[in-house]
Formats: sequence, C-alpha cells, structure tokens
Amino acid sequence: MPFDLEPVQAALPGRRIRWFPSVASTMDEAARLAAAGEADVVVADEQTAGRGRFGRSWHSEPGAGLYTTLILRPPLRSGDVPAFTLALALATAEAIARTADLRCDLRWPNDLLLEGKKCAGILVELAGNAFLAGIGVNVNHTRFPDELAHHATSLRLVSGRFHSRERLLIELVRTAESFTRMLVEGGPRPVLDMFRRASSFARGRRVRVNLEGTTLEGVTDDLDPAGFLWLRTADGGRVLIRSGGVRPLE
Ligand code: BTN
Repeated sequence: MPFDLEPVQAALPGRRIRWFPSVASTMDEAARLAAAGEADVVVADEQTAGRGRFGRSWHSEPGAGLYTTLILRPPLRSGDVPAFTLALALATAEAIARTADLRCDLRWPNDLLLEGKKCAGILVELAGNAFLAGIGVNVNHTRFPDELAHHATSLRLVSGRFHSRERLLIELVRTAESFTRMLVEGGPRPVLDMFRRASSFARGRRVRVNLEGTTLEGVTDDLDPAGFLWLRTADGGRVLIRSGGVRPLE
C-alpha cells in the first residue's frame, strides 16, 4: 500500500515532514535538510543504502517498513547520546504498542525484539546542533532474506495482521518528542529506570558482547548513570560496555 503523507501531516501540525519514494539513506537526507533547516522528519518508502550501527546495512524492502530519521534539537550534549538512544528505543516500543498492540523487549542499547527476533533498530548521529534519530521498523514484511531470517521479524509476522505505517509514524513522532522531553527535563535517571523495567537485558542476562575484534561473555549487571551497560565476567570482574553488539547466551 503506498504511503499516504496527508494524514500524517494533518496529525502532526507544525512538523515539516519530507517523504521520498527512494533514497540511499534517510540519515543522509536528514543531515542535508538539517543543515539547511528545512525539515523535522524525513521518511522514505525505500532505502537503497540503509545503514545500521557498526557500518552494517539495514534491510529496507520498498513499501514494507518504516524508514525514518527525526531531526531533533534538544538542549543535550554528545555525552547524552547513550541515554538518548535508550529513550528513543523506549519511544519506539511505545509507538509499536499503541499502533500494533505488541510488547517489545529492548536489547541494550538500540534493538527492539519480538519473540527474540529484531523488529526495529535505532541509529543516532549528530549533525551540527541537531540530533538525527534514525529509526527503522520492520512493519509489514512477510519474509526476510535467508541471512536475516533467523534474527529478524516484523510486526505483521508476529501479529498476523497488516499495520499502518502512517499511524506508526504519527505515534513515533509523538513518543520520541515526549521521551526526549523526559530526558531534557529529568536527566537520564527516569529514562534509565524505564529501560530497566522494559528490558530483559539490563540485569541478570547471560550474554556475549561483540566488541571490535574481540568478544566478552558474562552476565549483565545494570546500567551505569550515563546509560552504558555493566557486564560481570566469570573472573568476577565488572566491565563497562560502551559500545558493542549484545547477544543472549542460552
Ligand atoms: C541498527 O539496528 O543498527 C540501527 C538501524 C537503523 C535503521 C534506520 S532506517 C532509517 C534510518 N536510515 C538509515 O540508513 N538507518 C536508520
């Protein structure tokens, strides 16, 4: 079903929403438009070079997913990016719950899971004084390429129902703005407390962490005040994970 911008714009007065049929990445379009001060939300039907963390690509099947970058200008600093990423994960989970009535697990720092598989991811980049919140949600995908099929799912595959990308974008802009406000007004603590409650990965989970060029195994042992993840290793040490891919060890 083609994306219908009109109801989205009507529901979000005052936000300049730019829709594209196809872009390389909404992050690049958003960086360009943010520099020119010309948009608040960039959304595309398809990305030909959608990207995730660590230079990975983001599978962006035309018409099936929500591929968006929100251009936000909160009074935050680069040191707030870890907590901001967690706030956006919470916002995305809330938007999915409101739209599709599905409860996601949150895998630190930026993955949303349904039935243990990834249905959405967050990528935060800075561009001048703007924060670019890149959010990809697998909405109506009915299958994934073989190499992703074990790890990825969609709202439709889990619920058995079609979901409106327009409705999801409306909720996402609202929830992202309200979680950003929570972070600005209350600091990281309320966001971290909500993340702890929403995520099965914040405490007591046996995981493997892929760091650049090496891996670590241990049990997750809470978030630090900035939003990084503590890992308790077998030798009794406690290592602060600032960046890395966390995978469960069952
Ligand atoms: C991740 O899980 O590593 C982050 C994935 C982020 C994907 C979104 S889709 C919209 C925006 N444009 C991109 O190229 N990436 C983000």
